[in-house]
Amino acid sequence: MKIAFAEYAIPKGGVVAVGVNDDKSLTPGAAELDRRSGGALTRALKSARFQGRSSDRLDLVSPGDGSYERIVLLGLGKAKDRDALKAQDLGGGLVAHLNGAGVLKATVLVDPAPEAPLPMNAAAARIAFGARLRSYRFDKYRTKEKEDQKPTLTELTVAVAGAKAAEEGFQPLDRVADGILFTRDLVSEPANIIFPATLAEAARTLADDGVEVEVLGVAEMKKLGMGSLLGVGQGSANESRLVVMQWKGAANRADPPLAFVGKGVTFDTGGISIKPAAGMEEMKWDMGGAGTVIGLMKALAGRKAKVNAVCIAGLVENMPSGTAQRPGDVVKSMSGQTIEVINTDAEGRLVLADALWYCQERFKPKFMIDLATLTGAIVIALGHEHAGLFANTDELAERIAAAGRAAGERCWRLPLSEGYDKALASDIADMKNVGDRAAGSITAAQFLQRFVNDVPWAHLDIAGMAWSKKDSPTCPKGATAYGVQLLNHLVQEYYENKGAVA
Ligand code: BES
Ligand code: MN
Ligand code: ZN
Repeated sequence: MKIAFAEYAIPKGGVVAVGVNDDKSLTPGAAELDRRSGGALTRALKSARFQGRSSDRLDLVSPGDGSYERIVLLGLGKAKDRDALKAQDLGGGLVAHLNGAGVLKATVLVDPAPEAPLPMNAAAARIAFGARLRSYRFDKYRTKEKEDQKPTLTELTVAVAGAKAAEEGFQPLDRVADGILFTRDLVSEPANIIFPATLAEAARTLADDGVEVEVLGVAEMKKLGMGSLLGVGQGSANESRLVVMQWKGAANRADPPLAFVGKGVTFDTGGISIKPAAGMEEMKWDMGGAGTVIGLMKALAGRKAKVNAVCIAGLVENMPSGTAQRPGDVVKSMSGQTIEVINTDAEGRLVLADALWYCQERFKPKFMIDLATLTGAIVIALGHEHAGLFANTDELAERIAAAGRAAGERCWRLPLSEGYDKALASDIADMKNVGDRAAGSITAAQFLQRFVNDVPWAHLDIAGMAWSKKDSPTCPKGATAYGVQLLNHLVQEYYENKGAVA
């Protein structure tokens, strides 16, 4: 689907989407369309349930003398609530609606709203951003799709006064969308296509965006002493990898970077502590954290963020086999700490233990944030509305939570404390990899914290967020790329130095 910007003008025909206020009053564009269609909008608003709330929609098919194929009325809600997220949702919702209606081309009119918190050109850019995000499809494996099931919309024109400014505002968002869609592609791929080596190859393509990419293999990780990560991968025919991606956009390329670390279990059978068959296919999503940090890197590099960032993805496949690690095995992590592996299904923390340690030792980052589909318990606690947030520093936690609200990717902080840490005591090693059933997400975070030294650190448990079973306005069901927008916003809002060269 092509997205274009055009100077504000009421089209003479075709398909036009236009806003209606929450008191059912017409925007200037809607008023003009009403006049041109002989009062069809006014009549329709009288007889329909449409209230003008955001996400209310009403279609007028061939109204008046038939010069318009279709006029779509879009409820705009209260002017004071029309922020960036509302505009994104409007654009995304419109795209889904037009595809459902079989529309090929459409124009959306962006009318001025002086009380709205967002300038018109920014609203137009956000509408376009939402439209692009919602138009995503992962359909490469469909060979028999019927024509009437395919999306129809080929072009959406956003008409706004100051189209040039809107288009310029859209450019960085378009690059962020590149990152998000890249993540969605990687996370959607099945595990016979995406495994550690192929996911690492996908990450390598970021070199085209100016990212420095290194891939460590098993021998290199062995040399570094990453016994914890390697133990998880040892049962798989697909060898483990560690991907290190660096973007240097700050004025000083030697400034300490912001660090992002992702769990990349390309498939999680549970290992010898094997999972039940029902729903196991969902564990192809278990590399969602890695997918997000790779897409984040693409977004930051794509928009030439004025910041130094490093993203690390720990890639393994957790399989049961004759070479798999056993419950009760003791492994030695890169940190030197030993771990008794009570449950081979608590593997994400074993991967992150070495990835986090490596990250802080090599890069001395300004902060370190990890993302992981780490625990089923977080889904029980927070469902699919918030990711779990854990942090050793209040300032970082507050910034992440605020960025999540602003970007529409919310998270909720849970506690860390010594009491929970006690659950990890082992009879024969420095720790075991699981606590008891109580507070499963917290004990998992406590485990990670044992591999974090004196650096501000946060952990996002995204098990309930990495994919969705239903559509949202800006994301069709499937991989969500949760975290790319949140972290991009965090970087932009709090860490980019303005005078830097890209
Ligand atoms: N990848 C899973 C967590 C998960 C579960 C993600 C459901 C998404 C949906 C993780 O590796 C896991 O298996 N965790 C175990 C930990 C337990 C053995 C302590 C879990 O949550 O059951
Ligand atoms: Mn597991
Ligand atoms: Zn897992």
